[in-house]
Amino acid sequence: MNSDKKLSVSCFRKRKQQGDKIVVLTAYDAPMAQLAAQCGVEIILVGDSLGMAVLGYDNTIPVTMEQMLHHCAAVRRGAPKAFIVGDMPFMTYLADETDALKNAARFLQEAQADAVKLEGGAETAPLVRRLVAAGIPVMGHIGLLPQHVMTAGGYRLAGKTEDDAQRLIDDALALEAAGAFSVVLEGIPAAVSRRITAAVTIPTIGIGAGVHCDGQVQVVNDLLGLFTSFVPKHAKQYTNLNHAVSQAFSAYVAEVKGGTFPGEENSF
Ligand code: KIV
Repeated sequence: MNSDKKLSVSCFRKRKQQGDKIVVLTAYDAPMAQLAAQCGVEIILVGDSLGMAVLGYDNTIPVTMEQMLHHCAAVRRGAPKAFIVGDMPFMTYLADETDALKNAARFLQEAQADAVKLEGGAETAPLVRRLVAAGIPVMGHIGLLPQHVMTAGGYRLAGKTEDDAQRLIDDALALEAAGAFSVVLEGIPAAVSRRITAAVTIPTIGIGAGVHCDGQVQVVNDLLGLFTSFVPKHAKQYTNLNHAVSQAFSAYVAEVKGGTFPGEENSF
């Protein structure tokens, strides 16, 4: 399902109107980005989940602009025609509006991303408006906000009470009014995501938010079964690369130790 046509922000609202689900996957390097694009993934998110998926951190807080740009540029090289969203890391957009504009612009200029994503609801709407006015497409992100892990005391489902659900609907409406082209719904009960999805004309992209969203996003490591210590409830392992890679590495170790690698066919 490889399409050569480059998608743009305007395509995604049309997809929602047509009931055509949007497929989003994270990637952090060129080979995975190439595979994702070849297989029909429509938006590649260079998420700050990079911190846990690739860089060995416990959460997304330590991830820097330089790290994000480095990996986002690699993803672009792997998938030259993909629609790529760069995730703005912790404290690169909330402290100062000018910094936020400059940092967001770096994703477009230095890493050739098509859009940026930032976490937060109605309180970030004025910033989203400024970014969009400056020509930077923005994907919102509400519900469970990984960059708030310290103040939340962990990763908790959002929208469990009616007041919280209404607040999430208001957040999504505020982001839409500010010009966001889509919004990620993370860790939200399916019934609430359904209401949010019905309330806005921009596509909702769910992760742990049920089937009623206009699209789904998954972290590539979860989907490939690369993590073994913890499998989040929202994730489905479509394969078990951890097992396959372990087998390959063990076989390599055994063959080098046993003197059977390299064989004739690998020698000059
Ligand atoms: O960083 C990330 O991968 C994300 C997704 C979980 C939406 O923000």
